[in-house]
Amino acid sequence: MAAVIGFLGAGNMGAAIIGGLAAVPGVSALAYDVDAAKTDALAAKGLAQKAASPEALAAGSDYIVLCVKPQYLTGAMQALVLALRPETTVCSIVAGVTVARLKELTGGRCPVVRIMPNTPALVGAGQFALCLDDPALAAGQKAFVGELFAKLGRTYVLEERFFDAFTGLAGSGPAYVLHFMEALIESGVYMGFPRDKATDIVIGLFAGTAKLAAQSGLHPSVLREMVTSPAGTTIEGLMHLDRMAVRAAIIDAAVASRDRSRELG
Ligand SMILES: NC(=O)c1ccc[n+]([C@@H]2O[C@H](COP(=O)([O-])OP(=O)(O)OC[C@H]3O[C@@H](n4cnc5c(N)ncnc54)[C@H](OP(=O)(O)O)[C@@H]3O)[C@@H](O)[C@H]2O)c1
Repeated sequence: MAAVIGFLGAGNMGAAIIGGLAAVPGVSALAYDVDAAKTDALAAKGLAQKAASPEALAAGSDYIVLCVKPQYLTGAMQALVLALRPETTVCSIVAGVTVARLKELTGGRCPVVRIMPNTPALVGAGQFALCLDDPALAAGQKAFVGELFAKLGRTYVLEERFFDAFTGLAGSGPAYVLHFMEALIESGVYMGFPRDKATDIVIGLFAGTAKLAAQSGLHPSVLREMVTSPAGTTIEGLMHLDRMAVRAAIIDAAVASRDRSRELG
């Protein structure tokens, strides 16, 4: 794979993706940000070249990744759109911006890809939903985008109608996991552990359990049964969670997030 990937916006997500692509042979990054300090820092580390303007970014990129906040997207695209070349593919990670809206913002000048990442992308462990529904996308462009984001984490090619559900499950998902982590840390503090020790134990608990689920080849239900002895300590704790309807509350949380994403979209 060989291409110049242009980044409009080099904040948290833009910089994380640029950092993740640094080790990919043949791929080089070009970046434009209104905050020049951000692109200066990336250039100083040799991670990206700095584009002098949005027009220069459009002229010099084979693929452009839009990484600005939703409220700045329309203004940012006005500076870029007339310089877009038909052979360039415009990818967007901007939450809630549909393929139809991306076609409007690009004036129909080039193919577009909608992408939904999640925050573990900041440490190279993201999940990316890719919407390749735009009929203007060539097979080679679809394959390239798939391969590129697979270098940064797990990718899921989804029809756009699944994007709100992906947002509810994996986009907001890190917050649910962190919420549960916070609660368990508080339980450790309540039972007498110093806060830093409780935090360390809980982070290790989640990392180890995730590794077990990923590597054992066993379904989470089977792994949960393995730790649940008859009349033991774990069933006592699980019974309490079930009396509190925690499972239903978690399902309702993801569905509520999906519904909110639909409202905003
Ligand atoms: N972070 C997440 O968990 C997450 C998850 C899914 C999707 N996303 C999407 O990722 C996108 C980026 O999020 P982020 O957290 O990386 O935001 P961020 O840290 O604010 O980065 C955006 C960058 O774009 C710059 N910018 C603003 N207007 C610009 C313009 N006209 N041209 C070029 N650069 C401009 C901003 O500069 P200033 O700071 O000076 O404004 C900032 O440096 C958002 O659309 C968000 O919806 C984020």
